Amino acid sequence: MAQQNIDGIDNAAAGDAPDAANLLHGRKVLSFVRRSARLDARLQRAMDNHAARYVLDDIAEESRLDPAEGFRFDADYIRGHWDADAPLTVEIGSGQGENVVAAAAAHPERNFLALEVYDPGVAHTVLLAAKHDLDNLRIAQINAPELFAVAEPGVVDEVWTFFPDPWPKMRHHKRRIVQPELAAHVHDALGGGGVWRIATDIEDYALHVHEVMDARDDFENVGALMVSLPTEHVGKGNAQEAAALPHADFVESERFDGRVLTNFERKGLDAGRVIHDFAYRRV
Ligand SMILES: C[S@@+](CC[C@H](N)C(=O)[O-])C[C@H]1O[C@@H](n2cnc3c(N)ncnc32)[C@H](O)[C@@H]1O
Repeated sequence: MAQQNIDGIDNAAAGDAPDAANLLHGRKVLSFVRRSARLDARLQRAMDNHAARYVLDDIAEESRLDPAEGFRFDADYIRGHWDADAPLTVEIGSGQGENVVAAAAAHPERNFLALEVYDPGVAHTVLLAAKHDLDNLRIAQINAPELFAVAEPGVVDEVWTFFPDPWPKMRHHKRRIVQPELAAHVHDALGGGGVWRIATDIEDYALHVHEVMDARDDFENVGALMVSLPTEHVGKGNAQEAAALPHADFVESERFDGRVLTNFERKGLDAGRVIHDFAYRRV
């Protein structure tokens, strides 16, 4: 059975789609497959009633997922779109919005931005935000790396990427959202001491995160947990074989206590997988 992400977005099917169909514009390698998904009546009502309050609809041109030519995600834009001047947490791939909404409700002294590409996830986040009557959360339907590419240095205080789409096939590992280019842009967007938190239940993705992040001299891995991982990659269907591969120790973090348990984390735990948490501080 294929794992579904938000309301019918099929990730395993995404892995099987021909690459040409997955390109947004030109040659970009994308971490998602664009599919149209109808909103049910409840989500449509949430959008009709509350999108104007929560959804930032002036970043991209209509029905595009990259920022419009010349757009800058800068301090002026943030001041103009959030009610208070406060540190900003950005969640990349916020799914249904459970995490970002819970955090925004628990921390009214901070601002939050949810970045999600799929309509039902955006709509569900709007629904939850309205339910909690949140003033400090905004949602953008945008290809997250593209937003970070046009972010002004220092405008973001913390970045979260929880349970990113695993892209298990070897030939799709390049579509994993944690990539050196995104890391460089996240680094620049973060203010001094800002942290990028990542979590995954896929062991092979954990190795991928270490490979992308640990050797960077612009981020410090601030974890204190020693974890043994295979030092070679395995593709789809071969996770069991990883146990026999050479292993090495890696530094990770304790579970981030600001994260609520979403369906994705629960499914991983139910399947007996280990959750890997990472915290990288901007140097
Ligand atoms: C596996 S889900 C996890 C959702 C959520 N973080 C959680 O833990 O429940 C990954 C999410 O990332 C979103 N996503 C993938 N690539 C993205 C991108 N380039 N920009 C924004 N969102 C993206 C997907 O649509 C999906 O909702």
